Amino acid sequence: MSGPLQPPPLDAVGCDAVDFDPASFDPVTAAYTVAPQRWFPAIHARSPVFLSGRYDAWMVFDYAVGKTVLSDLRFSRDRSNWERPGEQRAVERWPLTEVLRRESPFVNQAKHRANRAMYSGAFKPSAIRRMEHIILGVIEEYCAPLRSAREVDLVALLASIPNTVISRVVGIAPEAQAEARFKDAASQFLLASSPFGSDANRDLAEQGTGYLFDAIGELVERRRRQPADDLVSGLLEGAGDRPDVGRDIVLSVASLISAGTDTTRHSAALALRTLLRRRDVLAQLRRDRQLLDAAVLELLRYEFPAKFLVRFATEDVRIGDHLFEQGKMVLTTLHGCGWDPQVFDDPARIDLGRDQRRYPVFGHGEFYCLGAHLAKFQLKHIIAYFLDHLPDTALFDEQRVEWEAPDMVLRGLASMPLTLR
Ligand code: HEM
Repeated sequence: MSGPLQPPPLDAVGCDAVDFDPASFDPVTAAYTVAPQRWFPAIHARSPVFLSGRYDAWMVFDYAVGKTVLSDLRFSRDRSNWERPGEQRAVERWPLTEVLRRESPFVNQAKHRANRAMYSGAFKPSAIRRMEHIILGVIEEYCAPLRSAREVDLVALLASIPNTVISRVVGIAPEAQAEARFKDAASQFLLASSPFGSDANRDLAEQGTGYLFDAIGELVERRRRQPADDLVSGLLEGAGDRPDVGRDIVLSVASLISAGTDTTRHSAALALRTLLRRRDVLAQLRRDRQLLDAAVLELLRYEFPAKFLVRFATEDVRIGDHLFEQGKMVLTTLHGCGWDPQVFDDPARIDLGRDQRRYPVFGHGEFYCLGAHLAKFQLKHIIAYFLDHLPDTALFDEQRVEWEAPDMVLRGLASMPLTLR
C-alpha cells in the first residue's frame, strides 16, 4: 500500500486543464489515458479538427464534424483503404486478424447492411428483457464479494461480466474453463483494433483471433446439427441457404464478442470510479433510482472507454474548412465530442438532468452500436448492485489505481483496489 487511504477528492476531472499543440499532441501517453478531459478545453478552443503530424492522421474532437465522419460512408472502416507503407506486411504476418479487420461483415461495406439486419432482432430492448435472468445472474455471480469481503479489486470484480453475458447469449458452453479462455481471447483479439499497436500486441491478437475462430466455428457446426435457444442457432435459421453463411457468422460473432467486452467492462469500472470520487452523485442516485438510466449515459459522456474510432477516407472529402484526403486515417473521439462546449454546456459538470438526445456515446449512423441496449442494461444493473451493496465505508486510494497501457483505441483501468469495510 502506498500510504493511508484518503477519501477521494470531489473534483471534476477536467478542471486541471493543460495546454495543447497540434504539432506535438500525443494521445498515446499515460497522462492522456488517465485524464483526456484535461486537454479538451484547449483543443476545443483552438483546433477541434486537425491533422496530426505525429500520426499522419486527422483527429476530430468537434461534435458536428465527428457525427458527419461517422455517418458518411466515404469514410470506411476497411483498412485496405489506408495508404500506409508496410500494410502488406501486416496481411502476411497476421493473416487472421487482417482478414477480420478487412472482411468482417461489420467492416465490409458491401455486406454490412444485410449482416446488421440479421442481428437486429437479437439486441432489441424486448430481446434484452428476455436475457434479463442471464444478465442479473452473471452480475450476482461476480459481484457477490461486495456483500462481505474486506477488500476487492474493482476491475477484477467486473472484468468477466460482459464477456460471460455475451458468450452465454451466443451459446458458448458455460463451463468456467471455456468461458475464461474465451474472455482472454476476446481481449487479445481486441488488441488488433489499434492501428498503431505494437507487433507484440498484434501477435497476441492473432492468437486470440485463432482461438475465437475455432471456438465459434465449432459452435456453428454443432448448431447446424443440433439447434438450441441461442444467437448462433437464430442466425443460422435466419440466413437460410445463403452461401458463405458459416464463415460470415464466425467473423461477425467474433467482432460482436470483442465489441461488447472491453468497452463494457471498462465503462463499468470508470463509471464506478467516478461515483466513488463523486459521493454527491452516488448519494443522488441512492435517493432516486429513477435517475439510473440518465446516470449511465452521463457517466459515459464524462468518462469514456474509447479514445478514438477509426475511419479511412476512400476519396477526398470536404467538411467545412477541412479536406480529408483519400487514404488518410480519420480518428474521431466520442469522448471529445461529448465534451464539446458548443453542444454540452459546462461539460466538466456531471449533470443527470441534461438533454440526452444528442449524446454521442454509442456512435452515429449506420454503425451505431448494435449492443447499446445490452450495454446500457448491464451498466444500469451493475451500478444498481453497487447502490444496494457498496458499504458507506468503501474507500480507494487514487495512488494505487493502475491503468491499461496507453493505446489509440481504448482506455481503461487495469486495477483499482477498493477497501470495503
Ligand atoms: C458501454 C459499452 C459500449 C460502448 C461504449 C459501445 C460503443 C460503440 C460505438 C461508439 C460503436 C460505433 C463504432 C463505429 O462507429 O466505428 C459501437 C459499435 C458496435 N458495438 Fe458497441 N459499445 C458498447 C457495448 C457493446 C456491446 C455489449 C455489444 C454487443 C452486443 C456491442 C456491439 C457492437 C457492434 C457489433 C458494433 C458495430 C455495429 C455496426 O458496425 O453496425 N457494443 N459500439
